[in-house]
Amino acid sequence: MSFNWSSVFAGRAARMGASEIRELLKVLEEPDVISFAGGIPDPDLFPIEAFKTAYNEALSTKDSAARALQYSVSEGTPELKRWIAHYMGSRAMPCGPENILITCGSQQGLEFLGRIMLSPGDRALVAWPTYLGALQAFNAYEPEYARLGVRDNAPANERPVEGEKAKFAYIVPDFDNPTGRTLSIDERHSVLERAKASGGAVIEDAAYTELRYEGEAMPSLLALDIQTQGSINQSRVIYCGTFSKTLSPGLRVGWIAASASLIDKLVLVKQASDLHSPTLNQMAVAAVAETNFTAQLDKIRNAYRIRRDAMLSALSRHMPKGFSWSRPEGGMFVWVEGPRGMNGRALLQRAVKREKVAFVPGQAFFADGSGQECMRLSFSLANPDEIEEGVLRLARAIPE
Ligand SMILES: Cc1ncc(COP(=O)(O)O)c(C=O)c1O
Repeated sequence: MSFNWSSVFAGRAARMGASEIRELLKVLEEPDVISFAGGIPDPDLFPIEAFKTAYNEALSTKDSAARALQYSVSEGTPELKRWIAHYMGSRAMPCGPENILITCGSQQGLEFLGRIMLSPGDRALVAWPTYLGALQAFNAYEPEYARLGVRDNAPANERPVEGEKAKFAYIVPDFDNPTGRTLSIDERHSVLERAKASGGAVIEDAAYTELRYEGEAMPSLLALDIQTQGSINQSRVIYCGTFSKTLSPGLRVGWIAASASLIDKLVLVKQASDLHSPTLNQMAVAAVAETNFTAQLDKIRNAYRIRRDAMLSALSRHMPKGFSWSRPEGGMFVWVEGPRGMNGRALLQRAVKREKVAFVPGQAFFADGSGQECMRLSFSLANPDEIEEGVLRLARAIPE
């Protein structure tokens, strides 16, 4: 008989379930499946030549190679932190390298923040629905989730309770995963006020912020809080950024920007976790960001805008009555809501089996498992013809 692993697991392991998205990605390897499931960048848009040059340069001299291949400091390489601090400054979030920690993607940042803030039973305010990966990162620390109550049309009996304490409010303000929606300026102020009233911090997840296809950029929550508090060191907002959606997700380079006193603590968490993010990748990302960031943003925005337009147009032509969807100004996702009684999981099974089209059922993104009638469609990976065909197939899979 094989060893019973669950007999040695800690209590927190009970809340670690397999990700619905990861399970799904298995069927996507089959030929002819059109996938609107994973929200991943199109590899054809990676700045491959720029990275070739950057890696070559990092390894080209003895000194540089010795540095690139050696252990380095936990907080991140100075040139990458300098670039990020300058970039944050250009977006009305003045900060210095002491306000930045380099992480292995923003996912690691979320996990660290759960680790230092959540004890079992602590309250975390989240949007309803919210990014599944954040719930997974926080789940290990056994929080109780409550509705943030901004943007999610909470029924009256589930709205925030006056005086309710929480450790933090977590939100994706721009082109949210999964809904594609963007917070208005009033909603941004509401999140800050709500966090303040609950005595907690704000975790601002800016994973998609650079991917805007129309309209004016909105001020970040951190920028708004700096305006009233005076500086990042006085702010309760923790900004999680990433190069995954702009340059490359595979290199696993992201960052946390926050008050220096919080960063000091997070550096200790980083040290204990993995010592530091790969030095060579940080050097390459700093070099590519320095030379190619703006051109790369232009390139990906143009490509994804066309796909978003193709998806919205296909949805309006093919979806049956009773369905509605978000109209994202950026990002990678459209959120579709079906009529009452629709079951997203059952529809996915039909859609994959009969029509070879995949999406993520909405339930995965709700902390309480609700949202049966919703689905998340990603337009980042399919070309406009595939999007047209995929939406047509999806509409065919919907029962009368
Ligand atoms: C909202 C959001 N936050 C964070 C992440 C994590 O990205 P990464 O760790 O690659 O920066 C993702 C990835 O899909 C995401 O959608």
